[in-house]
Amino acid sequence: MANEPIYLLAIESSCDDTAAAVLQNGKVLSNVVANQKIHSEFGGVIPELASRAHQQNIVPVVEMAIRKANIDKKQLNAIAFTQGPGLMGSLLVGSSFSKSLAYALNIPLIAVNHMHAHILAHFIDEDGYDKPNFPFLAMTISGGHTQIVKVNDFFNMEIIGETTDDAVGEAFDKSAKILGLPYPGGPLIDKFAKEGNPKAYKFTKPKVQGLNFSFSGLKTAILYFVQKNVAENPNFIEENLADICASIQHTIVEILMDKLKLAVTETGIKQVAIGGGVSANSGIRETLKSAEKKHGWQTFIPKFEYTTDNAAMIGIVGYHKFLSGKFENHAVTAKARIEF
Ligand code: KG4
Ligand code: ZN
Repeated sequence: MANEPIYLLAIESSCDDTAAAVLQNGKVLSNVVANQKIHSEFGGVIPELASRAHQQNIVPVVEMAIRKANIDKKQLNAIAFTQGPGLMGSLLVGSSFSKSLAYALNIPLIAVNHMHAHILAHFIDEDGYDKPNFPFLAMTISGGHTQIVKVNDFFNMEIIGETTDDAVGEAFDKSAKILGLPYPGGPLIDKFAKEGNPKAYKFTKPKVQGLNFSFSGLKTAILYFVQKNVAENPNFIEENLADICASIQHTIVEILMDKLKLAVTETGIKQVAIGGGVSANSGIRETLKSAEKKHGWQTFIPKFEYTTDNAAMIGIVGYHKFLSGKFENHAVTAKARIEF
């Protein structure tokens, strides 16, 4: 019995992606994500529409994950779900579904903190991918969070820096909106930035004490910059889109790297990981990688499918909680805000 594999179903529904994955121990057998296109026309996630879309998607997404993993649901040993943080209506769909299925299958239920999952995604078994050793630094950069975390162990983490206002993903998305690009604008800024000159325009970096971040001033600076230039030339955005995107991305990457360097200096820890949707950004990926040679860091950059919201990352936390016997009873509830 001791060497029998553990099969785990993981469900993520904290924001606007409905996701399910099946893991066999630390290995991902299937990882299915249904994106909700509905939000792009509104320029941001509409919570009520998100929860309705989760309700429509959750059954087919879970079925597909189980089918792709080529197992029968009776083989499942546990179900892990995102407890929070996130949008309440969205979280409720995933948590209620997980509770019902775990009850029906008579298997344990595991609650996962979404932010821990973005960090621990680095522990998914992948050929040729080295895992960090404890302690390491993790910068979580997403649409809802911007944190630098000292990760002492799977379940012992300390936030040593975080944003005082907007998250970095919001900085990307709001800048994109100013440029007339649809939501989520982060990937589009990244795409246009590839053709542009990162030094074409200069935006002032915020001055924030210690390891904390601020992005709201940058957004305002970009808004004024665009308004001023469009007043002089109505085609300013179209004519300079690549340079504007490259300059915005360059500034954001510098802000992130400045704080990471400070965190390494302050903690003496040179193993640095990134996680969350913005870790898909080519600028931060390249700059972080180059810090290996430049600063002697060891860096951990997730595979693309584990950057933006996904259930495989929920599954890997679930697996480690399973091994430690950290289960919930059916009274467990979703939490929009959750203790780190
Ligand atoms: O982790 P995530 O999928 O959801 C949250 O938990 O927030 O992150 C979504 C965020 C969005 O703000 C999106 O614009 C950003 O990640 N993002 C990117 C890129 N891909 C996703 N930002 C910059 N460059 C990208 N390539
Ligand atoms: Zn996320």
